[in-house]
Amino acid sequence: MVSDRVIAIIGGTGDQGFGLALRWVKARENVIIGSRVRERAEAAVKRLKTILGDQYNVEGLENREAASKANIVVLTVPFNGLFDILKSVGGALRQECILIDVTVPLASTIGGKPTQTIIPWHGSVSKMIAEILPNVKVVSAFKEISAEALQDIQSPIESDTIVCSDDDDAKRVVIKLAEKIPNIRGIDGGGLENSRISEYLTAFLIGVNIRYGVKKAGIRITQLEYNDKV
Ligand SMILES: NC(=O)c1ccc[n+]([C@@H]2O[C@H](COP(=O)([O-])OP(=O)(O)OC[C@H]3O[C@@H](n4cnc5c(N)ncnc54)[C@H](OP(=O)(O)O)[C@@H]3O)[C@@H](O)[C@H]2O)c1
Repeated sequence: MVSDRVIAIIGGTGDQGFGLALRWVKARENVIIGSRVRERAEAAVKRLKTILGDQYNVEGLENREAASKANIVVLTVPFNGLFDILKSVGGALRQECILIDVTVPLASTIGGKPTQTIIPWHGSVSKMIAEILPNVKVVSAFKEISAEALQDIQSPIESDTIVCSDDDDAKRVVIKLAEKIPNIRGIDGGGLENSRISEYLTAFLIGVNIRYGVKKAGIRITQLEYNDKV
């Protein structure tokens, strides 16, 4: 069944955003791929249709326009570009929309190591965004899921994702959205202050990938009667 909600992926031309777009378009969600340059967004749509086929509902727009049309906006830009993006799309966001923050503040974005983070004063990037944009429902998710795994659409993903928010309804929506991607479980990670765990964990998983020579290391939380409380 085709969903009636619209998901805009800001920075959806990049590895992580394009991977999420592939998975959600395949699951029949309505997706807009956003870019700073409309032509790049349109090129990503063309690439996506080459992979999945022409029959899907996906369009490419400049980031701000994409954000203005969506009920769910997903942030997938590098940490060092985040502030410009928040300035450019912040005012276009619909009141009360859900903003899924996938940003990991890797030290490598400012010349440091990809296995370390630069955690802001607020404790996490997601918490910081919630203070900058108080009128949207910020949810932290998909930070531990690798782009390689997302783009390998023939394979289920061997990972959970920790979903944190101070808005329980928004968190529930995102947990369900995670389940649209085969084998991912969205784990209720509590309030947004716990997003710091995901951000550290992602840098740690990058180190695991390097040490073991793999690209898709993930996490599983065991012993859960899964989602009986969601
Ligand atoms: N890659 C992963 O495996 C992975 C996993 C988990 C989380 N994440 C997080 O997801 C986010 C995106 O990661 P990625 O690997 O997809 O990054 P990326 O490919 O380097 O960049 C994503 C997109 O962001 C836009 N962008 C690049 N630099 C920018 C800047 N300075 N200002 C504004 N927009 C800029 C570009 O789109 P346009 O040029 O089209 O505007 C680019 O295609 C990061 O915060 C990362 O930490 C990534």
